[in-house]
Amino acid sequence: MTEISPREGHSDASAHEVARPAKPGYSPVADVPHRPRATDVDPKAARRAERQVASMFLLSMLFVVLFVVAYVAIDKTTVVYIPVMGDVGASNVALGFTFGVAILLIGTAAIQWSKKLMPDVEVVQERHDQLSPRRATAEAAANYERGKDESGFARFKLIRRTLIGALVVFPIPMVVLLRDLWVPTEADEGKSPADILSTTLWTEGSRIVSDGTYAPVKPEDLPVGGLISAVPEDLREVEEVTENLNARGKAAIILVRMDPSEIRAQQGDGWDYQGILAYSKICTHVGCPIALYEQRTHHLLCPCHQSTFDLADAGNVVFGPAARRMPQLPIGVDEEGYLVALSDFAEPIGPSFWERG
Ligand code: FES
Repeated sequence: MTEISPREGHSDASAHEVARPAKPGYSPVADVPHRPRATDVDPKAARRAERQVASMFLLSMLFVVLFVVAYVAIDKTTVVYIPVMGDVGASNVALGFTFGVAILLIGTAAIQWSKKLMPDVEVVQERHDQLSPRRATAEAAANYERGKDESGFARFKLIRRTLIGALVVFPIPMVVLLRDLWVPTEADEGKSPADILSTTLWTEGSRIVSDGTYAPVKPEDLPVGGLISAVPEDLREVEEVTENLNARGKAAIILVRMDPSEIRAQQGDGWDYQGILAYSKICTHVGCPIALYEQRTHHLLCPCHQSTFDLADAGNVVFGPAARRMPQLPIGVDEEGYLVALSDFAEPIGPSFWERG
């Protein structure tokens, strides 16, 4: 048991802040008799504690494996009834439970280790100036080194190895969850994840319908200065069959109309239809949906971090953190006079992650 003694004076205070033994059998804090722990006096108890801690680290690894198994094996549409909570997704319950227990076990093992096996030391130290004298800094470094030795990180090999094992497998759930970045539909059969992420539902001839009502849009529905949020007609079917919200997020567009003479540049020749331009609705910064359009300047403003895109100038960024222009969708009309896409977007929509390629 050690005590940091009160300093005497100001300028050379650190000279007195040295560790010295406390009164045998008494705490330096409040003269309460110090009771040694079972693990301090009984080597068998210490070994038992060591095994307990190591078991918890091992168990946490097991629960991480169970997390991965649950992720793969449980159908995301399966629902279970839980009292108080009602019907909830079985996959969410299993993932939350296994991941939570894995964290809990690591935390509990760390607490048990420090409570039962690390040195049972009580210290007193007076407050002093924020800037420590050089000698105090050196003493702190020495104390740190001593604490490192006393923690037993080098001595308890089993604990050290199982802790390292538990921490190495612990990030696996984060990597596994990355798979949810793409949700393949039947139409995506055989496509690579990169293809699924970089293509949308828009194809040549896809009818443009109003978001929400699914009403097909004709050029005369959109006055100069107006804006319509729109999606591809096929989205209705995809949503009903698979509830694929990712498809909606990727395909959402805005239609704006301006006088053709005001269009200074586009991402492709003739991609507008009589002054009607279609742009992705998903901000290229971190993916917020945008529909704040200032018709006089033709600026599209993202409400999240104020990135601003000039829709009269090929959707280029004029302000804010977005690093890429807003992707434009080439449009025309079909034989019935409804607005249609002429192809998919020429560049991936959404956050600028794509720039890394
Ligand atoms: S998401 Fe649009 S500016 Fe950040």
